[in-house]
Amino acid sequence: MDFTLLFISIIVFLFILIIKSRSKLDIPGPRGIPVFGNLLQLGKKPHETMLKLYLKYGNVFSLRFGAIDTVILSEPEIIKQAFMQHGDVFNPRFVRKSRKATSNEMNLASSNGEYWKTVRGLVAGDLTASKLKQFETQIQEESDLLCQYFKDISGQCEQPHTFLKMYSLNNVLRFTFSLHYPYDSNSLSVDIIKNIHDYFITVGQAFPQDYIPILYPFFKNSPKKYFDSYNNLFNYIQSVLKDKESTFDKSNPKDLMETLIVAFDKLGLPQSGVSPTCLDILVAGADTTSYSLIFLLMEMLNNPNIQDKLHSELAANFSLSQEISYKDRSKTPYLNACLKEIQRLYPTAPLGVPHITSKDIEFCGYKIPKDTQVLVNIYGTHRSPKIWDQPLLYKPTRFLSEHSQENNSKICIFGFGSRNCVGFNLAEQELYIVAAKLFRRFQFKRPLEALIDTSTDFGLTLGAKDYKCIIEKRIV
Ligand code: HEM
Repeated sequence: MDFTLLFISIIVFLFILIIKSRSKLDIPGPRGIPVFGNLLQLGKKPHETMLKLYLKYGNVFSLRFGAIDTVILSEPEIIKQAFMQHGDVFNPRFVRKSRKATSNEMNLASSNGEYWKTVRGLVAGDLTASKLKQFETQIQEESDLLCQYFKDISGQCEQPHTFLKMYSLNNVLRFTFSLHYPYDSNSLSVDIIKNIHDYFITVGQAFPQDYIPILYPFFKNSPKKYFDSYNNLFNYIQSVLKDKESTFDKSNPKDLMETLIVAFDKLGLPQSGVSPTCLDILVAGADTTSYSLIFLLMEMLNNPNIQDKLHSELAANFSLSQEISYKDRSKTPYLNACLKEIQRLYPTAPLGVPHITSKDIEFCGYKIPKDTQVLVNIYGTHRSPKIWDQPLLYKPTRFLSEHSQENNSKICIFGFGSRNCVGFNLAEQELYIVAAKLFRRFQFKRPLEALIDTSTDFGLTLGAKDYKCIIEKRIV
C-alpha cells in the first residue's frame, strides 16, 4: 500500500514537473525535453548553436532553459527596436541565482532598479570620453611597456596571449585601483588573468540549477571553478580596498575605487557594494579587449597582405618611435576598418549579458510575457549570411567601401540602450592605441606554413585557441 502511494506520488510529481517545464511562448523554436527544456541542446558552443537556430527559426525565436522561457533576438534592426524603442521592457538584467550567490546584486552588471541606476551613473561618470582623454597618458605608458617587452624578445617565437592580456589588465587596474604589474611570467597578474579566465568561461555557461529550481539546493555550490575564481578575485580586491581605505585623500579621489568609496558614503549606499562593482569592471575590462587583440593578431598572421597594408598606412603617417594618439584616428581609415572587422567576426560578448522583460509586451507580432529571459545573438548577427557578404571572411574593406556606413550600422558589439557596455570608450581607446603601435613597430609572422586555427571557444567572452608567432621589430 505504502509502495503504491509512493509510486503514485512520484508519477504526480513528474507530471507536474513536465507540465511546468512546457513553454508558455507561442514563438518559433526547437522542441525541448521535459524538465531541461532546450538546455542540453546548447552544446559546448552555444554561440554556434544560436547561429544555426536563428538561420532556421528566424530573428525572434524561443528556447526553454529549464523552467525559464527564453527569447533570442538576432539582426540589428530587431535588437535596436527592443533595446532602444522598448528599453523600459527589455533593459532590466536577468539575475541568476548563482550570480546572486556571489555578488548579492550589489555589483553593476547584475543589479536592477535605483541601485543599478546610481552605480551605473557613478561608473559611467569616470568613463566619459573627456575623462578618458586624461587617462590616455596611462594607456600610452602601458602600450609602450608592452612594446618594450616585445622588443626585448624580438626574433623569438612566442605565445602572445598572456602579454596581450597583461596589457588590458594593467589598463583596467590603473583605471580602477591605480595599480599595474610588470610584463613577466612571474608577475602577480598571471594569477589574476587565470582567475578572470576561469570566471568568464564558467559564468557564460547555463548552470542547470539556475533554471531548474529543484536542482538548486543540491548544486548551489557548483561549479567549484566559478565560485573559486570569483572568491579569489574578490579577496584580491578586498586587500586592495583595505590598503587604500586608511591612506587615500578623500577630497581628491584618483581612481574608480576611490571615487566609489567617497560617493557611496555621500549617497548613503552600503560600502559592501564597492568591491563587487570594482570586480565587474576588472573582469569586464580585462578579458574583453584582450581577446579582440588576440583575434586581431591572429588574423594579421593568417593574412600577411592585410598586415603589410596596415603597416604601410601607419608608416606613411608616423615615424617608428612616434607616439600615436586616439585622436589620430582620422589619419588611419585602414586600421579603423581592421579593428571594426575584428569586432564583427569575433564579437567579444557573443550572446551579450542576459536581460529579462519587466512586463508583457507584443513584439514583432509575438506575445512575450513578463519575466522572460532575453538573449542578444550578437555572434549570429555578425556572422549571418542574410546580413553579410562572405560572413566568415576577415575583410576590413567592407568598412571602407561605398557600403561602409550601412555596414557600420549593422554592428551590435557593445549592445544598445541604457544597459549597453559602460566601458566602450575605454575599450576602443585601448585597442586603437596598442594596435597602431604594435603594427607600426613590429612585424608578426607565423612560425609554420599552416594557417592558425581561427575556431572560437564559448564563454561570457569569446575565446581564441592558443597560437605562437615570431615577433620581429621593424627598423624602418
Ligand atoms: C571589446 C571590448 C568590449 C566589448 C565588446 C563589450 C561588450 C559588452 C556587452 C555586449 C555588454 C552587454 C550590453 C547589454 O546588456 O546590452 C557589456 C556590458 C558591460 N560591459 Fe562591456 N565590453 C567591452 C569592454 C568593456 C570594458 C573595457 C569595460 C570596463 C571598463 C566593460 C564593462 C562592462 C560592464 C560593467 C557591463 C555591464 C553594464 C550594465 O549592466 O549596466 N566592458 N559589454
